[in-house]
Amino acid sequence: MASSLVVANIDAGYGAVRVLEDVSLLVSPGETVALLGTNGNGKSTLMKSIMGIVQPMAGSIRATIDDVEHELIGRSTEEIVDLGIAFVPEGRRLFPKLTVTENLLLGAFRPKARSAIQRNLDFCFETFPRLKERARQLAGSMSGGEQQMLALARALMSAPRILLIDEPSVGLAPLLVKRTIDKIKELKEGYDLTVLMAEQNFTQAIRIADRGYVIVHGRIAFTGDSADALSNNELIREFYLGA
Ligand SMILES: Nc1ncnc2c1ncn2[C@@H]1O[C@H](COP(=O)(O)OP(=O)(O)OP(=O)(O)O)[C@@H](O)[C@H]1O
Ligand SMILES: [Mg+2]
Repeated sequence: MASSLVVANIDAGYGAVRVLEDVSLLVSPGETVALLGTNGNGKSTLMKSIMGIVQPMAGSIRATIDDVEHELIGRSTEEIVDLGIAFVPEGRRLFPKLTVTENLLLGAFRPKARSAIQRNLDFCFETFPRLKERARQLAGSMSGGEQQMLALARALMSAPRILLIDEPSVGLAPLLVKRTIDKIKELKEGYDLTVLMAEQNFTQAIRIADRGYVIVHGRIAFTGDSADALSNNELIREFYLGA
């Protein structure tokens, strides 16, 4: 069943500080869409707006989950997760003093996921064998790459239909960035997810993205209808990639 996301004309910010202006984007069923942009341009603010962590001042955010449409603005983060949208925040945000398993169990508070806790845990351990080996290790003592895998696995514990991932590559060595991005593709296919991924790492992100948006100073500056359209765009080459 189809799940998709439509962000329409949102303005959002923090107090008097306006960060997003008239932002619209679309993630169609089964797509992986990249939200590209360098530091401070509003990627996380957009992700947080979708998750109900930041309240937009204008616009609408509609998610269709298994063919049922919901307006997200005005809902709490917990309700949004309950609907079937999971978020892997920037910097992972794990509980460092809890074990791998405990962190995973905390991802499963969505009512629909609770009944399937053991099955989802088995799935996660199957998908991430390293986490199974380290099930009792404290999250804070895992390597950066392992922590990113744990953060992804924790999001999957809520049995989401739409997955938002904020800068999975941050703080990882190049080889681990590549592995993490590959893993996201594998998860997307294995769990039949619709994915929105914020990334600064243009080259890695567009390896797996179907399409992408470039956000500059809180506005969508460019929409690329394919990975090729993004990588062959002169403005992106000049201003983003410094080519
Ligand atoms: N809690 C906050 N209070 C006030 N301003 C904030 C807050 N969080 C972010 N901002 C500001 O909003 C703007 C956009 O930040 P945001 O975190 O959305 O960017 P980003 O594209 O995710 O950047 P990065 O790649 O560094 O994570 C920045 O100018 C930032 O300083
Ligand atoms: Mg960010």
